[in-house]
Amino acid sequence: MSASFDYRQVLSPSFVETGSYRGDGIAQALGAGFETVHSIEIADHWINHCRQRFAREIADGRLVLWQGDTLDVLPRVIAHLSRPATFWLDAHSHPHNTGTEKSAVNCPLYHELGAIAASPIRSHRVLIDDLRLITDPRSWGGHDVTFSGMLERLRAINSNYAFAFLDGLIEKDVLVARVETGMRTDQATLDAFLSDPLSQSIRSARSALACEVDPMSRTVFPRI
Ligand SMILES: C[S@@+](CC[C@H](N)C(=O)[O-])C[C@H]1O[C@@H](n2cnc3c(N)ncnc32)[C@H](O)[C@@H]1O
Repeated sequence: MSASFDYRQVLSPSFVETGSYRGDGIAQALGAGFETVHSIEIADHWINHCRQRFAREIADGRLVLWQGDTLDVLPRVIAHLSRPATFWLDAHSHPHNTGTEKSAVNCPLYHELGAIAASPIRSHRVLIDDLRLITDPRSWGGHDVTFSGMLERLRAINSNYAFAFLDGLIEKDVLVARVETGMRTDQATLDAFLSDPLSQSIRSARSALACEVDPMSRTVFPRI
């Protein structure tokens, strides 16, 4: 799902997205001024859509679209990076999105964080979208990612990461890990997630929606 924050807050030479979908994240990253944007997508339909939508940027070399499963492709993209990058980790399966069933996992996040941890660059910025869903093991057909599991793996990349939260579909739906002078962890929000992954603000936002918005088709279906 596209973020509602300004991508210029997390500018780096390169932007690496997992899950291209309609290309809205790519458009935001190109607009924010990232020199190079890499985006990985498993579904043929969405890769073809993005190839058409961004034909000029692909020809210019500003955008590289990678077709395939982030499990296989992300380590290859990371091997291309020579400087700290901004990662936008946003790939996950959905029953209505043809193509995602090709992956062995519904939510590849732990594999992606492992691939980043294997990079010799320790100061990448890592953004993880959809906290309201990722903290719920029933999302996306079921998965084993937890909030504390994410933090543990991020700290394995860099034990000095500070954590902040940016707005996505709802308030504070994006976890940001970065090492920067003057950056401080938003400890209150972190503690709220740790003590109750579906913290009060997240719950109230979800109940305000009174439904789950399908991020693929943008149709709305009742929460079960
Ligand atoms: C929520 S959408 C991404 C939205 C996009 N990042 C944006 O900001 O507009 C998730 C996308 O991840 C893709 N996806 C799911 N599993 C994947 C995998 N294992 N590898 C690569 N892409 C995957 C889906 O096909 C879908 O297009």
